[in-house]
Amino acid sequence: MKLISVAGARPNFMKIAPLTDAIAAHNAVSSPFIEHLLVHTGQHYDRLMSDLFFKELGIPEPDINLGVGGGSHAVQTAEIMRRIEPVLLEHRPDYLLVVGDVNSTIACALVAVKLGVRIIHVEAGLRSGDRGMPEEINRILTDAISDLLFTTERGAGDNLLREGVPADKIHFVGNVMIDTLLRHRARAEQSDLLERLGIAGEYGVVTLHRPSNVDDPVQLAMLLSALNEVSADLPLFFPVHPRTRSRLTDHGIPVSGAIRLVEPLGYLDFLKLQSSARLVMTDSGGIQEETTVLGVPCLTLRESTERPVTVTHGTNRLVPLERDAIIVAAREILDGGPISGRIPELWDGGAAERIVAILVNNAGKGA
Ligand code: UD1
Repeated sequence: MKLISVAGARPNFMKIAPLTDAIAAHNAVSSPFIEHLLVHTGQHYDRLMSDLFFKELGIPEPDINLGVGGGSHAVQTAEIMRRIEPVLLEHRPDYLLVVGDVNSTIACALVAVKLGVRIIHVEAGLRSGDRGMPEEINRILTDAISDLLFTTERGAGDNLLREGVPADKIHFVGNVMIDTLLRHRARAEQSDLLERLGIAGEYGVVTLHRPSNVDDPVQLAMLLSALNEVSADLPLFFPVHPRTRSRLTDHGIPVSGAIRLVEPLGYLDFLKLQSSARLVMTDSGGIQEETTVLGVPCLTLRESTERPVTVTHGTNRLVPLERDAIIVAAREILDGGPISGRIPELWDGGAAERIVAILVNNAGKGA
């Protein structure tokens, strides 16, 4: 069986890592042999946004790097499509495996489906209901053309069924991102990040990068005004995404001295920073999941989430995007102690193995 998998942007790397491990583990003891090639699209290309993750998570060097770099959505998507097509034509894989919801995901899937290559989508079926999010469009379109859809929460399967995806294509397997977290949690505990940042005592963590939050200067100024206020009660550490860094500078948005802006962190350092935090405030998808497993209170600074299980089961709360609402929600957590939560079903470290087992079984049936 020949499989090409794709990783392009930072949130893909921790999802691909356990899959490459599970494929290698399968090949070591069982048949059929899975010939596996890893493609990096180059959507993210900085050392801090990409290379460090490969190193820390032990992901093999990509077999092919498309080197696309940044650009508008159209330019980035088109360039990935143009560069993946000859790769698929040359290698003629049985399957293309894509993860998550970034531009690399839909771009590669769209080329594969036209060439008759079957598509595996890992983390299928998540829906925020907000079609203004570029990732939501990527999710809907990728799922519509996928042949095997692996989901992280039961509601995702319901979303797919509602959209007409046949039940036999959908497999609830758990969360590969949590496979990575559980595998590296002990190592992350050894990180000396807190000493390096001079952190003593309680602190909060902030991440922001969604276009809807950071591209509009009024919205970004409102968020920073709320965070500045929260930082009077709790010092905040803010690893800044390149997009956000440039928006903060371009618009001259004031940032309190109690908010420490730091470079994007590697996986282990960021896991350490999250796991010891009193509170996390974010607009990321993955961080909602990670804080749920770590049992750390998370305020999601968005109107909707595609990961509702982190709210129903986990420690995540959606906060209305208003200055006062954010301050009140943060104070509630600081005054009221930790939010309790439980770990969602099958977020147990075994998702990647389950995916490989299903894949092998399916190939055996000639599917
Ligand atoms: C992308 C994903 C988003 C994911 C996020 C994580 C899409 C539609 N969005 O958004 O789902 O949560 O990654 O980071 O695919 N840049 C650098 N260095 C890099 C990468 C990017 O400086 O290594 C710059 C780009 O040049 C661009 C900006 O950051 O100016 C945004 O990068 P881009 O990949 O377009 O989208 P993200 O906002 O990162």
